[in-house]
Amino acid sequence: MTEAVARAHPNLALAKYWGKLEREGNFPAVPSLSVTLGGLSTTTRVRFDAALTADRLVLNGAAVSGTELLRAVKMMDRVRASAGSSLRAEIVSDNDFPTASGIASSASGFAALALAASRAAGVDWDAARVSSEARESSASAARSVFGGFVELAAGTPSARQVAPAGHMDLVVFVCVAGEGKKKAVSSSEGMRRTAARSPYYRAWLDMAPRNFADLRAALLAKDFEKLGELAEASALAMHASAIAAGVVYFGSVSLEGLTLVQRLREEGTAAYATMDAGPHLKVLTREADAAKVRAALASLANVSRIIESRPGGAAEIVQP
Ligand code: PMV
Repeated sequence: MTEAVARAHPNLALAKYWGKLEREGNFPAVPSLSVTLGGLSTTTRVRFDAALTADRLVLNGAAVSGTELLRAVKMMDRVRASAGSSLRAEIVSDNDFPTASGIASSASGFAALALAASRAAGVDWDAARVSSEARESSASAARSVFGGFVELAAGTPSARQVAPAGHMDLVVFVCVAGEGKKKAVSSSEGMRRTAARSPYYRAWLDMAPRNFADLRAALLAKDFEKLGELAEASALAMHASAIAAGVVYFGSVSLEGLTLVQRLREEGTAAYATMDAGPHLKVLTREADAAKVRAALASLANVSRIIESRPGGAAEIVQP
């Protein structure tokens, strides 16, 4: 087989990954736990072609070069090494969600690429191997290989499912803070600066594993309020450690959204905020409160759109 198409969903970390181990291979320094975001997907076609002299990448309709292409080529080199092949490939990848939405497109992107490329090359990688290869490109991508609620332990090669998508009543709102803007500092660079300069990085490394363990237990106990509190605490601690190093992803939407969500809770609605390496706000709530929370979020200024998601499934081959 020389061609395959795979689809993967982005994911949202509830217990955040921030910081890498000082060793080769892109291993997180802390454990993380995410929910795979249903309804949003990346679809990637990989076609090996003896006529090509170099890998080509077309992302959302535009040819890509430079570091973005290089990251994909590195993945392709690992697939080629595993297959004993030297064929170059054309990669065509499309997101059905806005790429600048602060939803990590690298997570669904590298999960879909690892799966499609390995299948197209005819190597028989299991999900753990696909996850491990995806992690080398982007650690959060290791989690997008699986559906539902997914953990990636510190220093381990691959992620694994903790609970299936139907395990818990959960609605995620992604409030997009403006579109088309590239993030100022990449997550890898943000992590590097935090580790090098933040007086609170050690405190983060100390707190994150406990937060992860408590959040995992809350998830298994289906305790939504505890899970939400711990997810918000993880995001705030991650950002506090980054901000102390001058790495500021917060924007007006993050701050106003956080205040709004805290006010909703004071009024008795269970809603929790989380943020990643960008100014966008993500809000966790339950089905019964979803309409009310959505209406409240609609009052936020500078939000260009609100995307609604629920826990989704694993990465999969869609063709052939
Ligand atoms: O996988 P990366 O290198 O894009 O880093 C992801 C970092 C966060 O999104 C901020 C947290 C996470 O666990 O996904």
